[in-house]
Amino acid sequence: MQSDREFWENDYYKNLQESEKDFLKDTFLSKYEELISKVEPKRVLDLGCGLGQDTKWLRGRGLKVTACDFAKQAVQQVQQICPEAEAIVLDMREGLPFKNGSFGLVNANLSLHYFSIDETAKIWAEIYRVLAPGGKLIGVVNSARNGYANDGYVASPDDKNFYYNPQRKQHKRLFDQNQFDYLAQQAPWKIRVLRENEIARKERKKYTWEFVWEK
Ligand SMILES: C[S@@+](CC[C@H](N)C(=O)[O-])C[C@H]1O[C@@H](n2cnc3c(N)ncnc32)[C@H](O)[C@@H]1O
Repeated sequence: MQSDREFWENDYYKNLQESEKDFLKDTFLSKYEELISKVEPKRVLDLGCGLGQDTKWLRGRGLKVTACDFAKQAVQQVQQICPEAEAIVLDMREGLPFKNGSFGLVNANLSLHYFSIDETAKIWAEIYRVLAPGGKLIGVVNSARNGYANDGYVASPDDKNFYYNPQRKQHKRLFDQNQFDYLAQQAPWKIRVLRENEIARKERKKYTWEFVWEK
């Protein structure tokens, strides 16, 4: 049976059009350039890096970047567009193979909204562990305001924000305030930014939550 990883490798990245491969103009990181310039240590984890636009942007600001994704094509593309970054195939549900306190910044741009709430909490705990004291988690996730009705995704009977598409064999999560409250209770995060926005990504408008949490 196809897994979530196989959806990304066999459907998403295999069928991605050339014209869809460069959406760097959509990166939200430029808004946080000043904050990012001050992170310590100057090592960043780009988690669920996709095709590496953020990796390249971060590398361009003098940071040492470790980019990871569980889709092989994504990691190969990162190696091509940003050979100075370390690029690793990994499934973040299986933990992060880095020492405690390794990173000044973890970037997760639209990559933390695919998991059950238990898996999500486990991944956020791992992010907390690999951040240095004062290190930041910065990211964007899809908002529950978008809804997935009529999109082939069916809500889980015991978690209305966790969806599965039986045709694609892919999970997705939508976030609302309750889930952030739950995640914030799991470790002593300092919440610097947490807000809902409307963004345009690949010319499509959607609602997202943007966050900067500090260890
Ligand atoms: C919407 S894309 C975002 C990619 C990139 N961060 C960007 O902003 O363009 C989500 C990415 O998360 C990756 N991903 C999903 N689940 C993952 C997992 N369990 N472990 C590692 N990567 C995962 C997918 O392969 C995909 O590249």
